[in-house]
Amino acid sequence: PAMKDLFGLDDLEEKIREAYGLRKVVIVPGDSESSPDVKRELGRAGARALLSAATSGDTIAVTGGSTLAEVADQMATPSGGPLKGAWFVPARGGLGESMEIQANTIAAKMAKKVGAEYRLLHVPDLLSDDAYQSLVQDPNIQEIVDVIRTSRIIIHGIGNAMEMAMRRKLDQHSIAGLQKEGAIAESFGYYFSEDGNVVHRMLTLGLRLEDIIRTETIIGIAGGVSKAKAIHAVLKFGHEDILVLDEAAALALEKKL
Ligand code: G3H
Repeated sequence: PAMKDLFGLDDLEEKIREAYGLRKVVIVPGDSESSPDVKRELGRAGARALLSAATSGDTIAVTGGSTLAEVADQMATPSGGPLKGAWFVPARGGLGESMEIQANTIAAKMAKKVGAEYRLLHVPDLLSDDAYQSLVQDPNIQEIVDVIRTSRIIIHGIGNAMEMAMRRKLDQHSIAGLQKEGAIAESFGYYFSEDGNVVHRMLTLGLRLEDIIRTETIIGIAGGVSKAKAIHAVLKFGHEDILVLDEAAALALEKKL
């Protein structure tokens, strides 16, 4: 039997797939929050899921975060040869992440690893309304944003709302707002409540909600018990297709079913 059968995870994958109406669920054994080896395996499973969904000529939007950085680390040229003519782009502009885990960095790294191309989106982390309005009208920015909005695949991490708000150094006023709105999860710069409603968005460029909603393949990847509620919230948003998670998160998620 495959390694996974020994852990009895196939049934759990099917149960979660069915409950949330997903196309595919992949569970890696263990807990990525306490084991760097499991986090690496989570990254490897994410890379595999992405490469089996991607074809030459695709535009692939990626988010930031330590999990996606692990996916990039674990990517390798697919057995069929390089992913020629595919483009990797960041899903959203600056969200206040440190360099190593920024979407731009990860998009470039993934592209290099699989022999694809990349385009970057350079916008400041915190935009005032005025700066946002003028950037939106800049032809160079517009061009890359248009490319991002044609993405056929999105691969993204899922975070706990408060953790992400702190990591991105959101101001106290916004943090209080998030708390009041019941923000549980954050993905692609959008904050979600427990029932999957968007309660806040970061003012930055890239994928809009309507772009996300009509994207053909959305791959979410996250692990750890502490993220179970956040994963549930993003699944309730209702636009995920493929979910890659670890056993710890999957068991915690199962309790919610
Ligand atoms: O949007 C969610 C975060 O990017 C997740 O970050 O992978 O470091 O937990 P993480």
